[in-house]
Amino acid sequence: MTTSNQSPPATGTPVTTVRLQNIAQSYGQSAALMAAVEVGLFSAISKGAGTYEEVAKAIDIHPTNAERLMVMLCAAGLLEKKLGRHVNAPDVERFLVEGSSGYMGPWITFTKPQWNEWGRLAEHIRTKSLKVMGSIDTFTVEDARRYHKATYSIGMGAGRRFVRQVDLKSRKRIMDIGGGSGAYCIAAAKEHAGIRAVVLDLPVVCEVTRDFIAENGVSDRVEAQPCNFTRDPFPNDCDVAIMASNLPMYSREMIAAVVKKAHDALLPGGEMHLIGETTNDERTGPWGPAYWGLGQAVSDSLGLAHSESDVIGYFKAAGFEHVGVHEFIAGSLSRITGTKAK
Ligand SMILES: C[S@@+](CC[C@H](N)C(=O)[O-])C[C@H]1O[C@@H](n2cnc3c(N)ncnc32)[C@H](O)[C@@H]1O
Repeated sequence: MTTSNQSPPATGTPVTTVRLQNIAQSYGQSAALMAAVEVGLFSAISKGAGTYEEVAKAIDIHPTNAERLMVMLCAAGLLEKKLGRHVNAPDVERFLVEGSSGYMGPWITFTKPQWNEWGRLAEHIRTKSLKVMGSIDTFTVEDARRYHKATYSIGMGAGRRFVRQVDLKSRKRIMDIGGGSGAYCIAAAKEHAGIRAVVLDLPVVCEVTRDFIAENGVSDRVEAQPCNFTRDPFPNDCDVAIMASNLPMYSREMIAAVVKKAHDALLPGGEMHLIGETTNDERTGPWGPAYWGLGQAVSDSLGLAHSESDVIGYFKAAGFEHVGVHEFIAGSLSRITGTKAK
């Protein structure tokens, strides 16, 4: 569904049922995108298959199914039609063609395990007994492996962006709170030969993190340390703290407590960067943070979407100075920073 389907009718235009119908059925768009990745449709188109028949032959599916899927992908703006042949939209060509350096296929199907629970959203919304932690609490190593194959597929790009934006030249040791694959620490270690880092995450995740660290050849300087950040202490020899992409997983009280614990553990003069899916201050969007916040209902956790000013408030209450907000990925993530007094 395009953005215009989601926008309310403009003043003066007739009010119809079309937008409501399209939003109600927009799960079909999610399914089409996930299925296209799973059957390798975008990769086939990138290699030159342009008609329903050519695509059907390239990925061994019935031509009617190729047609049905490709019509929906055109309607969703993921495929474009030029002179009767299909081509990938620019973002699809860059990020969804297998084998390319930007490939993020695992991230596209990241939330698929929750598919059935989204179908029971009204039941979850009626639930009044909410937990501190969501489904991540019961993860196995295999769950963590699948989950972080997905986060890594976009995390390394984010890690490199972080290292380009933030001057870490004089820094010695990073703690990455809920660091997952370790993407941010790996990117920092590759850029700065002198920097060391510790990825703090749940025990099952650390097993997977160590594989990513080794794969990138930085095991001598980056380690993974089991830590449940809701209750365990943080190391007290770090001058940088990062916390990325876990903001909506917890309540306001919990995130404020974690930011305070990070502040107190940092060395004097240290800096913290919280990269989070923040809403605007009116909590009317954007779409991504709203989705991640609502997604916490599906696992009956207390997590929700936090606004930029919520996070600024956590930093100030923790005692950070020079608190500021920087755009990280427009419409998706902002980076809130603060420094600890010397
Ligand atoms: C969406 S991932 C983000 C990973 C990484 N920061 C990144 O940006 O690529 C969220 C991470 O937070 C971790 N996490 C969530 N709750 C946690 C907790 N209570 N203690 C430690 N880690 C936690 C998860 O295990 C997961 O690795």
